[in-house]
Amino acid sequence: MQANAKARPLAAHRADALSGRVRVPGDKSISHRAFLFGGLAAGTTRISGLLEGEDVLATGRAMAALGARIAKEGDVYVVEGVGNGCLLEPETQLDFGNAGTGARLTMGLVGVYDFQSTFVGDASLSRRPMGRVLDPLRQMGVEVMARSGDRLPLSIRGPRVAAPITYRVPMASAQVKSAVLLAGLNAPGVTTVIEPVMTRDHTEKMLTGFGASLSIETDADGARHIALEGQGALKAVPDLTVPGDPSSAAFPLVAALIVPGAQIVIENVLMNPTRTGLIETLLEMGASIEIANRRNEGGEDVADLHVRHSDLKGVIVPPERAPSMIDEYPVLAIAAAFAEGTTVMEGLEELRVKESDRLAAVARGLAANGVEHVEGEASLSVTGMPGGKGLGGGRVATHLDHRIAMSFLVLGMASEKPVTIDDARMIATSFPAFETMMAGLGARFSEETDALAS
Ligand code: S3P
Repeated sequence: MQANAKARPLAAHRADALSGRVRVPGDKSISHRAFLFGGLAAGTTRISGLLEGEDVLATGRAMAALGARIAKEGDVYVVEGVGNGCLLEPETQLDFGNAGTGARLTMGLVGVYDFQSTFVGDASLSRRPMGRVLDPLRQMGVEVMARSGDRLPLSIRGPRVAAPITYRVPMASAQVKSAVLLAGLNAPGVTTVIEPVMTRDHTEKMLTGFGASLSIETDADGARHIALEGQGALKAVPDLTVPGDPSSAAFPLVAALIVPGAQIVIENVLMNPTRTGLIETLLEMGASIEIANRRNEGGEDVADLHVRHSDLKGVIVPPERAPSMIDEYPVLAIAAAFAEGTTVMEGLEELRVKESDRLAAVARGLAANGVEHVEGEASLSVTGMPGGKGLGGGRVATHLDHRIAMSFLVLGMASEKPVTIDDARMIATSFPAFETMMAGLGARFSEETDALAS
């Protein structure tokens, strides 16, 4: 995205019905890791189904700056890795745009190298906390140079020899877990991450696939102890297939549930249990979602989702489910706006430090569109209006947040009055084909001309 490009307001109008089959783009978490681990491991990794979103491409550019060679042959990304321990000092600063995952995982990966690297990002990323990754890196001997607190822009430099650590992750975060494990790849001895609450396990699974020596044990309290042997060889994965992103599938999924008469199929969706909390919750709400054609692809379960318009009812979503649906609360709030009764979501503290303060952004968007709700410190209750009568008509501030943008466009597909978002550009970070795919199912969008847009 060009820094001086203009915001692009977009309105979604009530759709008649949605129908058809769609295939959502590759999983964002796995795509980042495919570039990171493929770029690190010795040999050639060929990646199919990679998400070509801005966030992932930024990670690819960072890996190229660190010595990996990345080319595209048809639809396949071909990555020549440098070999574990052999990343090169970057000659340029590493620009991660909007991407927290790319920035934090790469900090872990290169932070422990005995050279300096500089991290920059957009206004959203520059507001997000990096201390959660920098604190364990400091324990490993990394020096951090930041102008304002532990925020981007910042530079880091590793010690001559990094110290392996045992680190208990203080918040439910796959990014922090992953950053420490990736730092451990370049430290002598065993680095252990203790994870009291399980988060998405793509790093563990994929590192094992790339030949890392990693063991996982669960203790009596249910905490996972992930122990990684540092400085071992990593080998390329000749054919790596990225399954469809459940966090992107969430948008057509919820749209089909709330638009009367809708009936769609979403193909090839990742069904890893650390990612399926939204589907579980929607099923409890009475959603008609058939999980068909379950199969294993590249070590992950995938399935096709057959979805029909449904009469939803409010439920209580327990806090312990949050890690398995952390990116899906904005769009769950939209589903809840059409459910009979109240949906209560708890344990949402991490939503405050995403691409935007998602709890506040969702609450303001709901308020602007007549949806009854209560925002708590770490909770949200939404009382629905089945059929969407009286809903919509508002303008939503997206705060450089792709998931806020897509969620409120979904609201507009089923509400009585159109819903306008202030800027659709950030959708390209995770789901560049969102508008064309949704329009292909029957969604109706219109560009707004806005004299005040900047
Ligand atoms: C991600 C972890 C989650 C999630 C993000 C992707 C990952 O972030 O919100 O979109 O790929 O590891 P946190 O680790 O901050 O919870």
